[in-house]
Amino acid sequence: MSKSVPIAVFASGSGSNFQAIAEAIEQQKIQARIELVVTDKPNAFVIQRAESKGIPVLVIQPKAYASKEVYEEAILRTLQEKKVEWLVLAGYMRLIGSTLLGAYANHIVNIHPSLLPSFPGKDAIGQAMAHGVKITGVTVHYVDEGMDTGAIIMQRAVEVVADDREQTEQAIHAVEHEVYTKALQSLFNH
Ligand code: GRF
Repeated sequence: MSKSVPIAVFASGSGSNFQAIAEAIEQQKIQARIELVVTDKPNAFVIQRAESKGIPVLVIQPKAYASKEVYEEAILRTLQEKKVEWLVLAGYMRLIGSTLLGAYANHIVNIHPSLLPSFPGKDAIGQAMAHGVKITGVTVHYVDEGMDTGAIIMQRAVEVVADDREQTEQAIHAVEHEVYTKALQSLFNH
């Protein structure tokens, strides 16, 4: 009998990747359980998505803490209470600091909407379109102290729909949901 891996999903926005992961878990495609959603944005739609699935949410904003270390120590306490083993970043718009990197070495993954190392950082889709590339894509990677610089786990190419940001974004999101599921399967299903 394979065990399910206790994970936390970190998100700052809509949470469509959270939703895709939660559904893949419900369908027993990923052998994990989401013990917690962590968000730094009190109005993020991911909160409603999590609550409707009965998954606890930690809303925690850095501005309430003296430093990034103290902020991450507060997150870490809740992660440890819930015995979380892996952190899955899905649109979490902050760099992970040394406290969480130290506690979860090689156990933090992220999804980024470009073929890294092209277009790291904010608005990767906008960057790709402004550059006029015809092919962009999706990358799942380990998280290190850099901005989208960790070792690559999985990638998939997506064609840019010329001059159509919305359609390009939709295509990328659809591929993200598939690729994140596949990447997490490869990490957690044994
Ligand atoms: C995704 O494009 C992800 O790659 C990026 O942020 C976006 C989050 O979307 N890091 P959602 O909140 O999962 O819908």
